Amino acid sequence: MGFRKLSQVLRSAAPSHRKILYLEGYVDSANLYALDGEPLVLVDAGNDSTAFTDLARAGHPPFTIRRIALTHGHYDHALGILDLLNRYESLRGSLEVLMHEDGPATLQNLVREKGGTIRTIADGERLDLAGLSIEVLHTPGHTVDSVCFYEGESRTMFTGDTVLTVEGSLPMPDPAAGGSLAAYLASLRRLSTLDIDFVCPGHGRPRRTRGRAYVRGVYEEALRSVKGPKTSWKDGAAKLMANGLLAEAVFCCDKELELDPTNQDCLEMKASCLGDLGRLDEANALYDSVLCRGVRSSSILTGKGFTLLRLERFPESLECFDEALASAPGSPEAAVGKGFALFCLGRQDEALDIPEFEKAFSSNLTEEVRKRFESRHQGGA
Ligand SMILES: [Fe+2]
Repeated sequence: MGFRKLSQVLRSAAPSHRKILYLEGYVDSANLYALDGEPLVLVDAGNDSTAFTDLARAGHPPFTIRRIALTHGHYDHALGILDLLNRYESLRGSLEVLMHEDGPATLQNLVREKGGTIRTIADGERLDLAGLSIEVLHTPGHTVDSVCFYEGESRTMFTGDTVLTVEGSLPMPDPAAGGSLAAYLASLRRLSTLDIDFVCPGHGRPRRTRGRAYVRGVYEEALRSVKGPKTSWKDGAAKLMANGLLAEAVFCCDKELELDPTNQDCLEMKASCLGDLGRLDEANALYDSVLCRGVRSSSILTGKGFTLLRLERFPESLECFDEALASAPGSPEAAVGKGFALFCLGRQDEALDIPEFEKAFSSNLTEEVRKRFESRHQGGA
């Protein structure tokens, strides 16, 4: 079909979309976006030499390309660069490739060997690409060097493989390219908070999204896939929490709470995650909402006690630990918490009379002394 104006594909009147040409890719060659300006800029280079013949047909001889902004270094997005440098001698010495500094060293070396230059880009950087102001967002996860490019005026996000629009296709992390599930989920979560109206992916058709809904849907789909389709949101939250993915566990808790707003385990798990994420006021409010309903279990009171400790509301935290110990006298967590509350209130002797606290306190102290000794020893070596 060849290159088409993005404004036609998206049925958009945004001025920036009139300046962008789009070539649909396929599985082994990603979508290409040509930003029509002085100079001509590509977002991704694909892996199909016929793309450049198409570009010439669209009135843009490939030797006029001066910059290529890469969403990441996978071959289906990047190998077209080498093809261009091989075929068009005039590009040697004049073609600049913009990629994240963690992009594959082999690719960077090959580009340099063939006469291109590499310019590394970083999160938050603003680029002038063919007259468009584009923000770089480092979105690691699919690969360590994945970036998205955001054109703020039309709220358009070029997402590479971080967000695809191919039905049922979820790009998973590529460990060989530094991919990481935790980073991928965090990147999707970050993208889902941004003002995005249009998604221009590396594979699949560009699409107008309803605000952030589409990206949020991809994030939800990724979590659904991680927890397993038959696993409940609650069990998924527990699994993610155990793996330290606290923000993702909060999302799963919220999904379960949409189905059952009174689910005790989820409320408690969510409050605990919020506390560990440092969102102490939210955690405290959630514990209060559970306690208001008359649920005064030892674990809820202990969780609230620790949250209040971190909020430096020591007298109230002591009350919580006392009430927790009244309902579950053997609770070591509540006993340790009570010791901390007493200690912070200046009642050190009473605190050290609590065996659980004394043990935790001395082991923490021992660890602290060990660390200081090691750092001094290393400093003197
Ligand atoms: Fe990829």
